[in-house]
Amino acid sequence: MSVTQQQVLDSLARVMSPSGVALTDAKVLSEIAVTDGKVFFSINVDAAEARAWESVRAQAEAAVRAIPGVTTAMIALTAERKPDRAAPPPPHRRAGGVPPASAHRPPQGGPSPMARQAEIPGVAAVIAVASGKGGVGKSTTALNLALGLRDLGLRVGLLDADIYGPSVPRLTGIRQKPALNDDKKMIPIVRFGLAIMSIGFLVEEDTAMIWRGPMVMSAITQMLRDVVWGRLDVLVVDMPPGTGDAQLTLAQNVPLKGAIIISTPQDLSLIDARRGLAMFKKVNVPVLGIVENMSYFQCPNCGTRSDIFGHGGARLEAEKLGVPFLGEVPLHMSIRATSDAGTPVVDSEPDGPHAAVYRAIGQKVREQLQGVIAAA
Ligand SMILES: Nc1ncnc2c1ncn2[C@@H]1O[C@H](COP(=O)(O)OP(=O)(O)OP(=O)(O)O)[C@@H](O)[C@H]1O
Ligand SMILES: [Mg+2]
Repeated sequence: MSVTQQQVLDSLARVMSPSGVALTDAKVLSEIAVTDGKVFFSINVDAAEARAWESVRAQAEAAVRAIPGVTTAMIALTAERKPDRAAPPPPHRRAGGVPPASAHRPPQGGPSPMARQAEIPGVAAVIAVASGKGGVGKSTTALNLALGLRDLGLRVGLLDADIYGPSVPRLTGIRQKPALNDDKKMIPIVRFGLAIMSIGFLVEEDTAMIWRGPMVMSAITQMLRDVVWGRLDVLVVDMPPGTGDAQLTLAQNVPLKGAIIISTPQDLSLIDARRGLAMFKKVNVPVLGIVENMSYFQCPNCGTRSDIFGHGGARLEAEKLGVPFLGEVPLHMSIRATSDAGTPVVDSEPDGPHAAVYRAIGQKVREQLQGVIAAA
């Protein structure tokens, strides 16, 4: 049974805005994309009212899911800042207008606390994939970026540092426990040509993991140092979400060569991305750049692109903040489906458009790390 746009509108007409107006009359809906029972759109509201709208978003999603024939409903709440009339609009530069990676200057200041950090023997560069907010696609990006770097001929490892909710076992399909060598060090699991370690390999899947302050660091430290990583050009670290104390400690204690911030185009998430940037600045870790994830919706059937999430925000934000923009990854079912199946898209669809996107991001990351990797 094919779902129509009109059916979606009819169901949304019964959902009320915080001020009691039908959603279809509230002038907040983006273009509605309906393909094969999959419905995607965004609700664009004023940033100041975003909190009140969250439950409306959830109701809208439930209403759309209830339409017979709908298999997926993805509804994003996007918040736009009111344009500042006094200021001229920021120049909207397309691809090519982004500052070159070489223009990037790591934060200036005193000696980096990282300088005190012992490097991990054999590992040339440890880089973190982080975000201010959860669920923006860090883990998906970390794994596919690691694979993109692999495709460029580098030796790559992946450390899942999200000790609260490790997702690398699911994303990679790895179910086995790492073996120990004679020195009682863990041997990372090799899959897709990557050396991979996650706390999720060590505990049962649904074990609730509650960590108290010092345990966080000792768990991470063990996974960094009590693992025989071997010789790696890059070790990609998938960070836990947020910019709280745990993340700060982590950023301070792991000898990072750089960080990559993942953001979605929504303004709310960009505010979080700024928080992420500030955190790394505080600990003098250079930000290698921003990746815009779920940047635009690409129809799985015809490939048509719809900018339903107000696309382009992260690129502009990166320009404003003077950090490189590394690329944009579309919101696409096959990225989600391959992640869920443990067959990441760069590995399972190496000739497809998504693999090319992640490889291009990998290329930019490699350029930034050139001196470091070349010296390895
Ligand atoms: N570009 C994309 N297109 C479609 N789905 C995506 C994309 N990126 C991520 N997803 C999906 O979004 C969900 C969240 O992604 P992911 O787990 O990578 O986010 P995260 O930032 O690591 O989350 P957490 O903060 O919980 O660690 C997953 O179901 C993933 O498959
Ligand atoms: Mg994650």
